[in-house]
Amino acid sequence: MKHLLSVTDVKQDIFEILEQAAVFKQDPFSITPMKNKTLAMIFEKASTRTRISFELAMAHLGGNPLYLSASDMQLGRGEIIEDTAKVMSRYVDGVMIRAKEHDDVLKFAENSDVPVINGLTNKEHPCQAITDIFTVYEHKKTYQVKMSYIGDGNNVCNSLLLACALVGMDITVICPPGYEPDIAIVEDAQMLAEETGSKIEVTNNVLKGVKDADVIYTDVWVSMGDEREKLQRLIDLHDYQVNMDLLTHAKSDVIVMHCLPAIRDQEITDEVIQSSINVILDQAENRMHVQAAIIYKLLRDE
Ligand code: CP
Ligand code: NVA
Repeated sequence: MKHLLSVTDVKQDIFEILEQAAVFKQDPFSITPMKNKTLAMIFEKASTRTRISFELAMAHLGGNPLYLSASDMQLGRGEIIEDTAKVMSRYVDGVMIRAKEHDDVLKFAENSDVPVINGLTNKEHPCQAITDIFTVYEHKKTYQVKMSYIGDGNNVCNSLLLACALVGMDITVICPPGYEPDIAIVEDAQMLAEETGSKIEVTNNVLKGVKDADVIYTDVWVSMGDEREKLQRLIDLHDYQVNMDLLTHAKSDVIVMHCLPAIRDQEITDEVIQSSINVILDQAENRMHVQAAIIYKLLRDE
């Protein structure tokens, strides 16, 4: 694996990364293989968790994280991605990018001599989804579970489809018509699932979709960049909320997941967030440990 742009890039390495993350979680300061190395992090969109967890993961491994806001770089004034990537390759050992357009991250990686990590685009959020698989395993002690993702078939949903397919986890996406995940990603997930035995489903039917779920997952109805569609989205997604009533249709030991930020009483009720049924803070913490394992895999000297 040279870059991590999509979950599919970790196809050969996912279990190694998950196992290494568990080691780092036990002792985040155990080794310092990133000494004298720098990870630059370019943000074209807002972030709380991704920024903090990547900075700390790099610091735990003895390296230097370098935060860069795209709007403060010459990128924001029209310097092309190709030149930015080539120049940065002379300075740093790896680049994490959170970008509006997925194609911009692909273009950056094509022109980079150092590993590039996707820190969220309009299409995928691979570091989130790989972490979420780690968190499910931490709580359920197996990958043989059913995840029901309910809401907008967005970037997080796309990456979860691929991540579940890679480890053999079943996933049902439940969304209103018109909010289905990327069709090409669903097909890729179905192909991966043929190898691992996981079941991939997309449905508009809420009760059918959450039946027998071990994990219920949701994300915001209005992602960064979708703000102009906000009113229509709130109407269309109204019946796809995670609330206490919905949970009664899942398994009795169901856990609830959310990548955060959460908008209370839109995609998830305050009551569910306050309850002990969710593992949302574990997900946020685990970003740090799983990303340390990703950095270790991509940036260490072999
Ligand atoms: N889940 C996640 O990526 O959060 P941030 O947008 O705060 O980084
Ligand atoms: N789908 C959300 C995830 C935020 C972490 C967004 O793209 O805004």
